[in-house]
Amino acid sequence: MSRKRVGILISGRGSNMQALIEAARVPDYPAEIVGVLSNRAAAPGLAIAAGHGIAIASLAQSKFPSRDMFEDVMTQTLESWDVDIVCFAGFMRILGDDFIDHWAGRMINIHPSLLPLYKGLHPHQQALDAGATEHGCSVHFVTHGMDEGPVILQAKVPILPGDDAETLAARTLIAEHRLYPEALRMLSAGEISAP
Ligand code: GRF
Repeated sequence: MSRKRVGILISGRGSNMQALIEAARVPDYPAEIVGVLSNRAAAPGLAIAAGHGIAIASLAQSKFPSRDMFEDVMTQTLESWDVDIVCFAGFMRILGDDFIDHWAGRMINIHPSLLPLYKGLHPHQQALDAGATEHGCSVHFVTHGMDEGPVILQAKVPILPGDDAETLAARTLIAEHRLYPEALRMLSAGEISAP
């Protein structure tokens, strides 16, 4: 079995990244994590990845003359790692058309809501404000619209009396850490592909 080579994009904590790294340590998992790229040098996830012996890179958009140049260097970095699949894991930038088109069908994201509900920022608060009784997370292909690509897998969590955005996010994150490795496994094994 040839394992798919995966690059992960992060901006911060990197707990979903860590869940993917741990899943990929199992020998028959069909993917390996070969690089982690952050748009923030201070992202704690970078040190976690480096501690696992994984290549890391940090690229700040502000250091580039244009967004296109920043994104070209992102693609060059991922290609220098010979990446087959790109996973967004808390990557907090909206990317341009060229980058999205280049990686179309090979790029997935996790969002902490039951998409198409509560796209964008503060999805847990959005769910609470809507009076929802259940919440969850989705792994989806990345397309041009934010949090809009076809959903691969979802997991539900209950909303409990007294929940606030923080308690709901913590419960959802536990589900995210199970869901993302399973979605990456399915894509890497060829069990799913972009529609
Ligand atoms: C996660 O809730 C993820 O779904 C969202 O941002 C958060 C990132 O957390 N996109 P982490 O960096 O993976 O810990």
